[in-house]
Order: sequence, then structure tokens, then C-alpha cells
Amino acid sequence: MSKKKTAVLILAAGLGTRMRSRLPKVMHPLAGRPMINHLMETVDALSPEKGVVVVGDGMDAVTDAVSPYATVVQKDRLGTAHAVLAARDALGDFDGDVLVLYGDTPLLSEGTLRVMLAARHSGDDPAVVVLGFRPNDPGAYGRLIQDPDGHLNRIVEAKDATAEELDVDLCNSGVMAFDGPAMFDLLARIGNDNARQEFYLTDAVALARQDGRSCHVVEGEPTELLGVNSRAELAVAEALVQTDLRAKAMHGGATLMDPTTVYFSYDTALGQDVLVGPSVVFGPGVRIGDDVEIKAFSHIEGATVDDGVSVGPFARLRPGADVREGARIGNFVEVKKATIEPGAKVSHLTYIGDARVGAGANVGAGTITCNYDGFFKSFTDIGANAFIGSNTALVAPVKIGDGAVVGAGSTITHDVDADAVSMTRAEQIDRPGVAKIIRDHKAAKKAEQQKKGR
Ligand code: UD1
Ligand code: CA
Repeated sequence: MSKKKTAVLILAAGLGTRMRSRLPKVMHPLAGRPMINHLMETVDALSPEKGVVVVGDGMDAVTDAVSPYATVVQKDRLGTAHAVLAARDALGDFDGDVLVLYGDTPLLSEGTLRVMLAARHSGDDPAVVVLGFRPNDPGAYGRLIQDPDGHLNRIVEAKDATAEELDVDLCNSGVMAFDGPAMFDLLARIGNDNARQEFYLTDAVALARQDGRSCHVVEGEPTELLGVNSRAELAVAEALVQTDLRAKAMHGGATLMDPTTVYFSYDTALGQDVLVGPSVVFGPGVRIGDDVEIKAFSHIEGATVDDGVSVGPFARLRPGADVREGARIGNFVEVKKATIEPGAKVSHLTYIGDARVGAGANVGAGTITCNYDGFFKSFTDIGANAFIGSNTALVAPVKIGDGAVVGAGSTITHDVDADAVSMTRAEQIDRPGVAKIIRDHKAAKKAEQQKKGR
């Protein structure tokens, strides 16, 4: 196989009308990042000499998402062939292989792309290699029409197909490997005399055959080649990605008690011997150390959790939560932009935001760091081995010294010295026997009313 240079063109200018969204289709997230970024990671792995993404007018979000890859704008969206033509200048005099990918086919693997490139250089030097697949429901996919010998003859779009052609279950995934020097010549001859009045890239196959060039099909896995055109297909793609991420987590040494209920992000990093309970959700940017237990119904996003930590059940770790070795985060605890130092315990019903909880400190049930005054965020600093009694409001900015004790039910508005005891409480009043007097009085009154028949 001759080693040729590779350029990758990614078509992403389509409006995605069937998504019914204001967001460009390729920006819809899968496992916590835009679907186009899944594809770009695969492209990256291939290390192509050139990579160009075709975007629509005003799709700056896509341009930003794919950076540092170059983008070209296809002003009028006249079809997939027209989209490739928009990249003509960007490709310049490139004379290697051109892989064309669709931005809405995000689950493609690097291995499959390599098989495509190998096929481009096999046998009779095909002008086009098309990646086909047999989906459960061929529906709106283009159909691959083959010669009796298996060579690809042409591609017919579902909307233009006869009933007989629609019976063909080998479909076009959209992925094509072109012989670069032949590509633009083929594209220039594509017309738009079809049901959608679009310039179909798929017509390149029939034109290449007319030129006496051969075209091949490589058959791929349906789970890799799903095209996302609607929210329903987006959900199917998400399910496929999640299945993959769960398998990877377990393969990497994590126990998932009920795998199908655990949701990961593309970048979730789990250590060894992590135990994840049912219904746990990982948003983007999470790193979990070894021997961590995450109990049921916890939601973790943008957080770092070190070795030996226990989280949940029903805990929420928000961006900037940094839970250090051996600390404990219990039920109905929310942590945001705060460091929980080694061995500290925040066990019940607590909000810790913009704060540090020192090593070995104990934060009682119902503690709130009052970090926001409606205008500014302020910091709460809790020292090592401090003890914060239950139902305490710490009004930031405020500092609790090492080893200090704050009495339950306090509202702390100024700093507490190390090893001091502080509390804010109304004095307790005791009236011996008064409860019984009141009870007897009320009971007698009620009995009298009932006697009167009211
Ligand atoms: C396309 C294929 C079909 C294949 C299917 C696989 C054509 C004509 N049809 O159909 O054979 O089975 O994909 O999923 O190619 N795009 C542009 N500019 C345009 C039009 C489209 O950049 O003017 C981009 C879209 O953003 C999208 C991709 O090209 O990422 C495919 O376009 P789409 O309209 O989704 O094509 P399908 O109807 O799905
Ligand atoms: Ca599509």
C-alpha cells in the first residue's frame, strides 16, 4: 500500500431542521460535549495532513468548538456536494486522499477510517470508497446499489429511490474516501435534478463509474454509523455512547452496581476500586481517585475527589469542589468551589460554597456557608479540626480558627479564634410544670365545647 497523505473534510453546515433547535445540530451534546467534538477527537487520532470543517453562515460556535481545525463557510446550503466544493480553496493543490465525514455521524472510530484509507489503496485504485452499513431501519438513508460482483455502482437517496431500491438494506453512512485529484472534477459535474433539488455528494459514485473508475464499499458497524438528524436519534446516540463509557469504567476497575443507571461524561476519570451506586450522574470535568465510594443518586460535575473519599447518597458536587483524601460528604450535601481537606466530614444537609474546610474538621447537619449577598461572593475559611455545630449559618467573609468550636444554631458573622468556643443564641427560658398546666386547661376547654354539642 502506497503511503499517501490524507485530508479530512467534515461537513457541518446543515441547518439540522429536523432537530427543531436554535443550536446548530453538531453542537448538541453527547456525553457532555458537542457531537462534533467526538468526531474531531477521532480525526485527531488519525493525524491528517489537513483538516477542514465546513460550517454554515453564523455558526461561530462550531468554528470555536473545532479550533484549531480550519473552517470554511458554505453560505447557501445547496447539498453535500456543494458543501465539499466550498472547501476547494482550503484544500488547495492537495493531491492525497480526501476523507469526507458528516458532522452528524459522531460515533465513527479511528479504526474504521484506517480501513477506509486502506481500501482506497487496494485493488484497482478506486476513485471512491464508501462506508456502508445495515441499520435496523434503513429509513431515510441513501441505498448502496452494487454490481453483481460487489463493486459499488451508484448511491440512490431514499427520496429518489424506487420501491425495489428501497428494499436494499445496505445503506450509505456518509463516510467516503476519495482519490483527491479526481474529486473536484467529479463534483463539478454533479447536478441537482432530484427530489430535494440538492447537489448530492453521493452522485460522485455514478459519475466515477462513467469515467471507467471503480468504486468500493467497506461495511461498518451500525452502532458506529448512526446519523443524528432528530432528537430521537440523538437519544439513541447518547445511549450508545453511555454503553461504551460504562464498559470502559468497569474495564478500568470500577464497580457499577447498576450500570444502565449511571451516566458518564466523555472525560470522566475514575481510579481503581471505585464503587458507584445506582443512579449516579457524572457531568464534565470529574476526576475520581482510588477506593472512592459514590453512593446512590449523587450528581458530580467539575469536581476532584481524592482517594478513599465517600460521597452521598444524594450528594451534589459542583464545579470547583475539591474533596481530599479520606474526607466524607454525606446525604443532601452540596459543595461548590470549595476544598474539603483530608479527613474532614460534612455529613448531612449542608451547603459549602466558596470555602475551605480544614483537615479533620466536622461540619454539623444543616450548616450553610452564606457566600452570596446578592452582589458579591465571599469566602468562608474553616480551620483544621474545627467543629461547626448543627444548623449554623457562617456569614462570609468569615474565618473559623483551627480547633475552634461553634455552638449549634449559631449565626457567625465575624472571625472565631483558634481553639475558641463561639455561639450566638437567645437565652433559654425554663418554666417548670407550665406545659402540664396549659395542656390541662386546653383539654378542659375542649371537653366543655363538646358537651355543648358544638
Ligand atoms: C446523507 C446522505 C445519505 C446518507 C446519510 C447518512 C447525501 C445526499 N445523503 O443524508 O446518503 O445515508 O447522510 O447519515 O449526502 N451538510 C452541509 N451542507 C449542506 C448539506 C448538508 O454541510 O448543504 C452537512 C450536514 O450538516 C450534515 C451532513 O452534511 O452533517 C449530511 O447532511 P444531511 O442533510 O444530514 O444528509 P442526510 O439527509 O442525512
Ligand atoms: Ca444526516
